[in-house]
Amino acid sequence: MCGIIGIVGQQPVADRLVDGLKRMEYRGYDSSGLCVVDGGELQRRRAEGKLGNLVEVLKADPVDGTIGIAHTRWATHGAPTANNAHPHATAQVALVHNGIIENFKELREELRRDGRTFESETDSEVVAHLVSRLVENGASPQDAVADVLPRLRGAFSLAIAFRDHPEMLIGARLGSPLVVGYGEGEMFLGSDALALAPLTQRISYLEEGDWVVITREGAQIFDAENKEATREIVASGASAAAVEKGNYRHFMQKEIFEQPTVVAQTLGSYLRQADNSVALPQLDFDISEIRRLTIVACGTSYYAGMVAKYWFEHFARVPVDIDVASEFRYREPVLEDGGLALFISQSGETADTLAALRHCKANGQVIGVVVNVPTSTMAREADLLLPTHAGPEIGVASTKAFTCQLAVLAALAAHMAVKKGLMNREEEQSVVSHLLETPACLNAALDHDDDIASMAHLIAPARDVLYLGRGQDYPLAMEGALKLKEISYIHAEGYASGEMKHGPIALIDDEVPVVVIAPSGPLFEKTVSNMEEVRARGGKIVLISDAEGLEEAGEGCMATIEMPKVHPLIAPLVYAIPVQLLAYHVAVVKGTDVDQPRNLAKSVTVE
Ligand code: F6R
Repeated sequence: MCGIIGIVGQQPVADRLVDGLKRMEYRGYDSSGLCVVDGGELQRRRAEGKLGNLVEVLKADPVDGTIGIAHTRWATHGAPTANNAHPHATAQVALVHNGIIENFKELREELRRDGRTFESETDSEVVAHLVSRLVENGASPQDAVADVLPRLRGAFSLAIAFRDHPEMLIGARLGSPLVVGYGEGEMFLGSDALALAPLTQRISYLEEGDWVVITREGAQIFDAENKEATREIVASGASAAAVEKGNYRHFMQKEIFEQPTVVAQTLGSYLRQADNSVALPQLDFDISEIRRLTIVACGTSYYAGMVAKYWFEHFARVPVDIDVASEFRYREPVLEDGGLALFISQSGETADTLAALRHCKANGQVIGVVVNVPTSTMAREADLLLPTHAGPEIGVASTKAFTCQLAVLAALAAHMAVKKGLMNREEEQSVVSHLLETPACLNAALDHDDDIASMAHLIAPARDVLYLGRGQDYPLAMEGALKLKEISYIHAEGYASGEMKHGPIALIDDEVPVVVIAPSGPLFEKTVSNMEEVRARGGKIVLISDAEGLEEAGEGCMATIEMPKVHPLIAPLVYAIPVQLLAYHVAVVKGTDVDQPRNLAKSVTVE
């Protein structure tokens, strides 16, 4: 979603604010802005489009204050124009906001009746006016904020600057993350630890309903009841280097190539290599007693859950109900007491998934969370926290987080099977040894990067692309289609191979490439029949399979991508590589913005 940063410094802060925004650009990049308090004035600069435009505005019209706030936006209310860009300000108060103020219309009406005028179409501007109205009437910044916060419905994090109080900023958090950073004679606010990484490693995570006053001397934190609260200061561990591309052209490319390493790290924390066993953290519930598993997630994380459904059903024989988070809550799911509800999220902040988590918690489910940000809201609300160790994922299209999620989920399915007595020691050893082969197989898959780059020219001119897969490769077909459409803007759909003849086959002609994901194995023959149906209608096939599969069905394909022969359990991890690389190279050929595709943002903290 949006990224916010605030600095109460000793030196001019504009450059550091812009640097902080650079590290948060993945959260939103359709407009940006900053405001500093300087010489009894609020100095505000804003620009439509990428952060570079704000840099140009600042070059032409620099600012000089030592205290300021800044924002990079992913539009919710109002088009991405300079006028709708944050900070929003009155003469007295400037504010940046991440999230949504659901009751902004009624608040705006109330303020209009009071004679106040608005310059933007945003929900955020009402908060600036509400605070300002009180300050103009003599309230202290603290009293004004304490008064306004309970009036806001929705999810938000805020950073607020005051013209007449050049010594302080106020931050608030409800539903969207905000961290407080402690420096030497300087203090910071940020949407995440990464934003503050080069500024300080000492941070506190605000809790739901908290608000904070920062000055050069420190922070005073209040809870939702306005009682002073203490929040532990922890070492953030975030590294600014994670937000560097190194020798890669794009973050997405770097993150694709990191997968052997980060999947090995993730597997290493759930598997014991010494005796090939699964080693999950101590659970304070009996997993063998779980009779139903509910999996909820969004987007790519949802597809990881779909793959895992096959594993939980196959190995642990537990019924699995899976849904996208935005639908889950509204279909009145039947949740029996004692079920395990598993939430999968890279960011741990996705609003739909978080709302589903809270719904399940209120309905007696044990809450398991597979998450890449161990300090995220979901992580903190989990009964069972299963971190992925992918490291910060900056490219908006998720890649390494997906394969790390799969690694954790495979280990959890095996663990559940062992505990239920459905997997004996020998079987466990075999499953674990196959999982441990994954990093090497991912490397072998990455060796095909050049071939895939050459074949991208065949796909780039297409208007539509279909992806087909069967069994656990069906979610991969959907993931492949999602990757292609989000970064290359080519319309793509993933279907279960056998489902194609029930409708999508009508789309097939010689201009619609069909990418078939089909490792050799028991389901292969059936998929080959579906390929024949495509071929018979002039369709052009890209077959992703192993040597055996390509030998049997590769002839006559427009292109083939050879994967190493792998155990079916790890095939979804390995076959994720060619679908990611194909989408990446097609986007490069098309010249789209790979890391910051249009209309998207990472970490979607609105419903
Ligand atoms: C696609 C992508 C999104 C996310 C989705 C959920 O490449 O990144 O579909 O997977 O927005 O986000 P998290 O996993 O952070 O909950």
